Amino acid sequence: MALLTILKFPDPRLRKKATEIKKVTDDIRKLADDMLETMYDAPGVGLAATQINVQKRLVVIDISEDKSEPLVFINPEIIKEQGQREHEEGCLSVPEAYELVTRADTVRVKALDRNGETFELDTEELLATCIQHEIDHLDGKLFVDYISNLKRQRIKKRLEKQQKEN
Ligand code: NI
Repeated sequence: MALLTILKFPDPRLRKKATEIKKVTDDIRKLADDMLETMYDAPGVGLAATQINVQKRLVVIDISEDKSEPLVFINPEIIKEQGQREHEEGCLSVPEAYELVTRADTVRVKALDRNGETFELDTEELLATCIQHEIDHLDGKLFVDYISNLKRQRIKKRLEKQQKEN
């Protein structure tokens, strides 16, 4: 397994749109394992392939407290959503920024698992927020796109300054 470098906002590569995975191969499974390791190390609860500069529709999530429930979503799609809820979000690509975002309250996701089998999952609360946030990444969208321009510019300036210093 290997730790991967996570792109940081406002890196333009975070705006690329990921393409569908045609076949779930050993390379894809290895990528999912490396992404899980990278996410646990960060630490975070979700990571999309876009964030490690791979434009494939692959997302990993684990919202358990003891890192015991890794979830792999290949070509994830939201097939049903209900209600609205505001939740404070953060992102490994936008360090130390936490903002309220309104998203669907419950969502049903359809995806392929690591064996290439189709599954559907009903999600709510943190998991529902997380899956919507990660699918956004695959479409080149970030949670800061939902907040005010002023707040986003502040975050951008701070991160650009930090990146210059590093
Ligand atoms: Ni994120």
